[in-house]
Amino acid sequence: MPSLSVFGAQWGDEGKGKLIDLLAQDADYVVRYQGGANAGHTVVVGGQKYVLHLVPSGILHPAKVNVIGNGVAVDPIKLLEEIEGLRARGIVVDGKNLRLSAGAHVIFEHHRLIDQCAERWRGEGRIGTTGRGIGPCYADKAARTGLRVCDLLDPSTRRARLRAALAEKNELLLQVHKEKALDLEGQLDQYTALAERLRPLVGDTGKEVRAAYRAGKRILFEGAQGALLDIDAGTYPFVTSSNTGPDGIAAGASFPPRQLDQILGIAKAYCTRVGEGPFPSEQKNAIGDKIREAGHEYGATTGRPRRCGWFDAVAVRYALDIAGADGWIVTNLDVLTGFPEIRAAVRYRVAGGETRDWPAEASSVERVEPVLTSRPGWTEDITGVRRYEDLPAAARAYVEWLEMEVGTPIRMLSVGPDRSQVIARGLKPW
Ligand code: GDP
Ligand code: IMO
Ligand code: MG
Repeated sequence: MPSLSVFGAQWGDEGKGKLIDLLAQDADYVVRYQGGANAGHTVVVGGQKYVLHLVPSGILHPAKVNVIGNGVAVDPIKLLEEIEGLRARGIVVDGKNLRLSAGAHVIFEHHRLIDQCAERWRGEGRIGTTGRGIGPCYADKAARTGLRVCDLLDPSTRRARLRAALAEKNELLLQVHKEKALDLEGQLDQYTALAERLRPLVGDTGKEVRAAYRAGKRILFEGAQGALLDIDAGTYPFVTSSNTGPDGIAAGASFPPRQLDQILGIAKAYCTRVGEGPFPSEQKNAIGDKIREAGHEYGATTGRPRRCGWFDAVAVRYALDIAGADGWIVTNLDVLTGFPEIRAAVRYRVAGGETRDWPAEASSVERVEPVLTSRPGWTEDITGVRRYEDLPAAARAYVEWLEMEVGTPIRMLSVGPDRSQVIARGLKPW
């Protein structure tokens, strides 16, 4: 099984960074294919914490090739900051273990400004974006007015394309958003210098990854965000601007979809969301607060408190279904220790009855009412448990209940932030 897709099956922050770092031990390549520095992927190894935004979560393993694919929206400022931050901590990052697609779109200053201004403009209807310029960059990609890494590295192309882009964006900034215009020469100088520093990493990463796959190398695809933030499948318009699951891999990594061998979703044993939008099982009460404190649920990118609630089996079932997942991984099980009773949404009450199905129209997710059922909790510390049979009976019963409700096998459990804190449960070798 040489290729594996691992993606978030909720609203992001499911623990993808932790699991990718762990699974990268057996991989040769770790490939990001969408999103940008809106992602915050936390990896903890031996008490050392790393938060990765654009650099794939395989970077802590020497001799693995980490790839930023053409579908990623790359902010060169953030990427270089991240690379320098890793180097300062003794991690080797060079053109051998970090590759950047020449076709990836570049996030400029104007994208960040417009993202932040557009949020103010939306007022009550704001999305709660990370302000990293993601939406405006992907909008320009679709409108064919963006610049790719290869465009930025080519002197005549970058000048012509950035001039055309700024001519329009400056009008938008000045007239609509009442901001200052950006100076073409200043932007060209700044971004050219950044691009030159990135040049050693740049190449045709799609070709490199396809050749590696054909040569029998193992390729791990790292999703960012989560299925319910997916621009097509998620709770539109409260979503991010890319395809977050395996659906994003073909286009965003230039990798043939037929060559995807295994697909695993990741979900927390409860649920969180950052930003605005529907969240049926949210607990805006003492329970939500307790989950937030126990799970340290504050954004890895923006530091915002995450909205917290119970596990939602309807949502995760939907996320795994559209991805065609072979299995899934449950993280943060330890966070639920000490809750006398643990609840989960198993159905939704909708006009005219109850359903186990995710609503066909994302807008109706606002109107569903979750049907919550409960199981008894446990009090034992499970952070040191490494074998499934050593978990307290109540924890096993909870896991098996989730598995039954979701209808897809749970292949691994995570019981703490460290790389070592996992319980295998029949993950297929690859
Ligand atoms: P990602 O965006 O999916 O990579 O997830 P984040 O890194 O944004 O958020 C997950 C948070 O949970 C991070 O602080 C992780 O260190 C932490 N974490 C991951 N797995 C576990 C776990 O099993 N138990 C606990 N307590 N924390 C975990
Ligand atoms: P990881 O990869 C959680 C949310 C934002 C906002 C919406 C749109 O760490 O799981 P954007 O800046 O993408 O235009 O914001 O999506 N969001 C995330 N929430 N985890 C993330 O990434 C997120 N990336 C974006 O909060 O609601
Ligand atoms: Mg995160």
